[in-house]
Amino acid sequence: MSNRIGIAEYHTTMKPITHIVGARPNFMKAAPVVAALAAEDVGQRLVHTGQHYDRVMSGVFFEQLGIPEPDANLGVGSGSHAAQTAALMVALEADFVANPPRAVVVYGDVNSTLAASLVAAKMGLPIVHVEAGLRSFDRAMPEEVNRVVVDSLADLLLVTSPEGVGHLVREGVAPERIAFVGNPMIDTLLENLDRMDPQSVRALHGWPGRYAVVTLHRPSNVDDPKLGREIVEQLLRLSTSIPLVVPLHPRGAERLGSFGLVDSATAERQIKILPPLGYIEFVSLVRGAALVVTDSGGVQEETTILRVPCLTMRENTERPITITHGTNRLISPAQLAAAAAEVLDGTHAVPTEGPPLWDGEAGVRIAAAIIGRYRS
Ligand code: UD1
Ligand code: UDP
Repeated sequence: MSNRIGIAEYHTTMKPITHIVGARPNFMKAAPVVAALAAEDVGQRLVHTGQHYDRVMSGVFFEQLGIPEPDANLGVGSGSHAAQTAALMVALEADFVANPPRAVVVYGDVNSTLAASLVAAKMGLPIVHVEAGLRSFDRAMPEEVNRVVVDSLADLLLVTSPEGVGHLVREGVAPERIAFVGNPMIDTLLENLDRMDPQSVRALHGWPGRYAVVTLHRPSNVDDPKLGREIVEQLLRLSTSIPLVVPLHPRGAERLGSFGLVDSATAERQIKILPPLGYIEFVSLVRGAALVVTDSGGVQEETTILRVPCLTMRENTERPITITHGTNRLISPAQLAAAAAEVLDGTHAVPTEGPPLWDGEAGVRIAAAIIGRYRS
């Protein structure tokens, strides 16, 4: 596919395409889309809701990925689901009234994605959903509720994985509004791969030679005291076979800390607890790992491309392609030791073929789909 899209008729005086980002995983997905639309001189606005606000959860990604400074930061911050979603909606409505968008582009499945979609739908603005069609079929997961609602409101549904098309069609979405475009998060990974040197990051921080990376933040894992304690117990057990490097999301740090993980992180336990890392540092660390233990959506995808064995501590995944075409395996905490032993023995099977269209060109395909639908 050509990188250039003929959009001579696209006037810069038109209302902008407005991107909504707010939480850590949004930034890597938006970066290639913003860049591909900029390359075509499409008028854009980038609105940061402020759902995530610490430098390590937000600012560092703009710096490292060269994402333009947001046109607005709504500073909404943290809260319960209702309080946060309501505050996001109030702030986004004011922003859309002051700066009417041509279309609103939302990413993934976080509360900022949901709030922007509800506001846009009520204002009659077309919604473009990047990463449409993913389903865990687990409504206990807040992100699944967000996915279903956003996809029911979206005008253009851009799908990262082929099974997503089937999910949407079965839910009654007209096929002409769906496009299978590939995975923009993987664009960002491939674009930055030559900056990711596990050796130098390890040397800089004094991390061990052979290690496992652990990231946990899902409420289903870290908010339930019984499960949280079991996870901590299993991680302590795993740390006797391989050193663990654990960059913890603030939610995971608070909860797993209260269940004893942080106190247990002594030298002889071989557990290194870290704050959240910048993208380049984190992916470099993952690239050099013998094993990753996670409940992150994005990390399941990145390990698939990096061919690093991934054990996902969840009962389900909305990203089954990372199992059929990648290195991912779902495990319970009780299965961690045996599954890790298989990886470390070299018997963890990995399919040879990666997911279709995770090729670094998703941003260009997404830009083409947006321009094609909203150019006049
Ligand atoms: C959110 C998303 C989740 C995503 C995750 C990515 C929703 C419903 N959930 O979960 O899908 O996987 O982001 O990281 O949108 N906090 C800080 N600093 C920050 C941001 C948050 O300390 O910069 C703390 C606050 O105590 C806050 C808590 O983290 O209450 C949770 O933040 P929130 O954005 O509500 O949800 P996440 O767990 O981050
Ligand atoms: N990530 C990062 N630093 C970290 C942990 C994760 O840069 O310390 C990146 C990771 O490489 C991926 C994204 O954050 O690109 C995933 O975000 P997160 O796990 O917060 O959310 P999810 O994907 O589960 O919604």
